[in-house]
Amino acid sequence: MKTVSSPSQMYSISMDERNKGKKVGFVPTMGYLHEGHLSLVRKAKELSDFVVVSIFVNPIQFGPGEDFDRYPRNPERDCQLLRELDVNVVFMPSSTDMYSADHSVFVDETTLSKGLCGAHRPGHFKGVATVVAKLFNIVQPHMAIFGEKDFQQARIIQRMVRDLNFPIEIVIAPTVREADGLAMSSRNTYLSPAERKKATALFKALSVAREMCQNNITDVSILRESVEETILQHGDKSTVIPVKIEYIEIVHDETLVPLEKVIHPARMLIAVRIGNTRLIDNILLK
Ligand code: PAJ
Repeated sequence: MKTVSSPSQMYSISMDERNKGKKVGFVPTMGYLHEGHLSLVRKAKELSDFVVVSIFVNPIQFGPGEDFDRYPRNPERDCQLLRELDVNVVFMPSSTDMYSADHSVFVDETTLSKGLCGAHRPGHFKGVATVVAKLFNIVQPHMAIFGEKDFQQARIIQRMVRDLNFPIEIVIAPTVREADGLAMSSRNTYLSPAERKKATALFKALSVAREMCQNNITDVSILRESVEETILQHGDKSTVIPVKIEYIEIVHDETLVPLEKVIHPARMLIAVRIGNTRLIDNILLK
């Protein structure tokens, strides 16, 4: 496994492989890898001949006051995990490798990124789309794998690839969960033991909503109410943990347009703050 930090070196390595007729698969990450990330890497290995993983904590997708400075990092452990999976190249640029001091061009998706997390994290998806476009230009993959866990992000990248004619196939891979249902996330390490227990409320609530849909309860306001109640009521009442629901939304699975009645295909997405940690999750309802 090669570790590369220079964008131009990364580009030449990929171009050499492409010229040899190899199919290049790419998994962009911000590191602190867990089974969720590794499942994407396994998928990339299955679908391509040469796998590149990037590790870059992208400063421009964090807002002021967000967790850029304390975002967990462990590049040595990450590289060890990727070596065990036989990844071909880990691309780990520095911020200065990626952004000139006078960087001034951005990619701004203007529809799908308006609601959900976009409404609560202004500028976040502009930062994501910009860095992913740059990584695509540097890594020159035939295909890239994204996680369903960050569903709005995956849909925005699919739209970017379509609208800007990137010749790249986007694959969305399923969310990997802990045994108790909590979606794996690098940010789960922020949770105290009591908060970690409370965090299982997210998947519990999504599962309740899905079950209600299966029983033909399709009114969004009713579903939303029971999800809210499940999140607030779930778990041990002896310790008080501050929980703030940021949003509970049911949207069309492709267009992300909010729905009033659950129709096919509909997805529920939620964002909840448990203590100081912001968690997101989603589920396909129908
Ligand atoms: P990061 O949060 O590190 O996630 C990298 C990839 O792993 C994303 O596609 C994400 O959806 C996927 N992922 C995270 N948790 C997962 C889980 N539990 N199951 C399946 N997949 C999971 O998302 C980013 O980084 C950044 O925004 C990035 C795209 C790298 C741009 O900076």
